[in-house]
Amino acid sequence: MSVRRLGVSTLFVAVWTASSFGQPTAPPRTVELTLTAAATHLSLVPGVTTEVYAYNGTVPGPTLEFREGDRVIVHFRNNLPQPSTIHWHGLHVPAAMDGSPFNAIAPGGHYDYVFTIPRGAAGTYWYHPHPDQITGLQVAKGLYGAIVVRAPDDPLPASLPESVLLLSDNRFLPDGSIDIPPPDSPQGRVDFENGREGDVLFVNGRILPTLAIRSGEVQRWRFINASGARVYRLALAGQTFLQVGSDGGLFEHPVEVKEILLAVGERAEVLVRGTGPPGSRAVLQTLPYDRYIPQTRPADWNEAHDLLTLQYTDEPAVAPIALPAELRAVPALDPSKATTTRVVTLSQGFLNGKVMDMSRVDVSASLGATEIWEIENLVGLDHPFHMHGFQFQVLDRDGVPEPYRAWKDTVNVPKHESVRIIVRYDDFPGKWMYHCHILAHEDAGMMGVLEVK
Ligand code: C2O
Ligand code: CU
Ligand code: CU
Repeated sequence: MSVRRLGVSTLFVAVWTASSFGQPTAPPRTVELTLTAAATHLSLVPGVTTEVYAYNGTVPGPTLEFREGDRVIVHFRNNLPQPSTIHWHGLHVPAAMDGSPFNAIAPGGHYDYVFTIPRGAAGTYWYHPHPDQITGLQVAKGLYGAIVVRAPDDPLPASLPESVLLLSDNRFLPDGSIDIPPPDSPQGRVDFENGREGDVLFVNGRILPTLAIRSGEVQRWRFINASGARVYRLALAGQTFLQVGSDGGLFEHPVEVKEILLAVGERAEVLVRGTGPPGSRAVLQTLPYDRYIPQTRPADWNEAHDLLTLQYTDEPAVAPIALPAELRAVPALDPSKATTTRVVTLSQGFLNGKVMDMSRVDVSASLGATEIWEIENLVGLDHPFHMHGFQFQVLDRDGVPEPYRAWKDTVNVPKHESVRIIVRYDDFPGKWMYHCHILAHEDAGMMGVLEVK
C-alpha cells in the first residue's frame, strides 16, 4: 500500500535559528518563506487541464508548519492579474499583517508579512486571499492552503500518524475551465444565494483519495473546510471520532462524536481509532445537511458524498495506545467582565441591514475590553460568522449553553437561530473584518469593520 500518508506538499523553509523540537524551553526561531500567487495550468480533474491561480504552482498551496513562538516572514509576490492578499485565517497577528481588504497588494506587487506565532496558538489554520469583492473568485481558482501550528508541550503522543485533510469543492465546464457563471445568469443567482458549491469534492486537491491505516492504530486528522460555501457533515461509517480540538486548537478533554459539522472556514482536530479489521475499508462521507432555502436547495442535497477511503492494511492489529484524558486548559472568558453586548443581525447579503463600506467603522471597541456578541440569523439559510484577529468562545446557541469550551474564530449560525460569543481584544489595535464566510456573501459586502483602539 503506497498511501501510508495523504500528504500535501509541505513547504521547505529557511530556518534561521533552528532549535530542537519538543523542548518547552526551545528558543524562538525565524521561519522565512516565499509564496507567489500566479496563474498556471494544472490537471485537477482527470483528462483535462484547468487554468488555475496557485500559490507556488500547486492547488492547494503548500502546507505551512510553524511552532508556537516562531517569528514568521512570508514574502508574498502577487503575480496575478488582479489585486490580492494573504489572510492567515484564525491566526492572531497584527492588523497590518492580517491580509485584509485594507491592505491589498496590486498586480505585480509584493509584501512581507511578518508576525510571531503566539504561545498557546497550536492548532490548525489556513490561508487564503482576501481582496475586496474577489475573494470567492480567487479561492475558487485555487488559492488556499493549510497551516499547522505545533506546541512544544502537545499532550497527544508524537507517534500518532497525522494527516491534514483540506476539504474543498469546485465546478468545471466540459473544457476543464472553472465554472464561474456571470452573476446575472440563473446559476450565478443560485451561486449568490447559496454561495458557490461545486459537484466535485476534493481532499487535498485529490478526488476520493485513499488513506491507509493499520488495524488498532490511532491517527490524528486535521480537517479544514476551505470551500466557498459547502457545509460538511463528516462521518466515518461504523466508527466514531474522538474530537480533540477545533479552530483555535485543542479542547480541554476529548469528546466522542459520531459526526462533525464543519461550516466554511471551520477546522476540527480528531483522533480516528482503527477499529476495523485488517484488509477492510471504511469511507469518510459528508452526510446531507440542509443549510438552504427551499427555492435554491441543490437537487442532490439529501445525498451523502464520499470524500476519502480509509483502507486498512493487511498487517495484524497493533495494541491500543493510551490517550490522554486531559489535553490542555482553555481558560473561560468571563461574561461578568463583558462591558458591552453587541447585536449583529445576519440577513441575505447584509450585516445589521448594511453592506460593507471600508470607509465606515461599524464597531469601535477598546483594547483590552471583553465583549459579548449576539449573532442573530434572521433568514432561512445558514450563515457562518467569522471574526478576524481574535479567537472567541461560544457561550450558547439558541440559548443552549455550549457543552464544552473551545477557542473559535468561525461559528455557523443556522437559519433563524442565534449564537452568543464572548471575545477579548487582548492586543493588536487596528481595523478588523467580521463577516459571513460564504465567500459570495462576503464579496457582496456581508462584512463589517471592527476598530480596536
Ligand atoms: Cu477566512 Cu475574512 O476570512
Ligand atoms: Cu479570517
Ligand atoms: Cu452568508
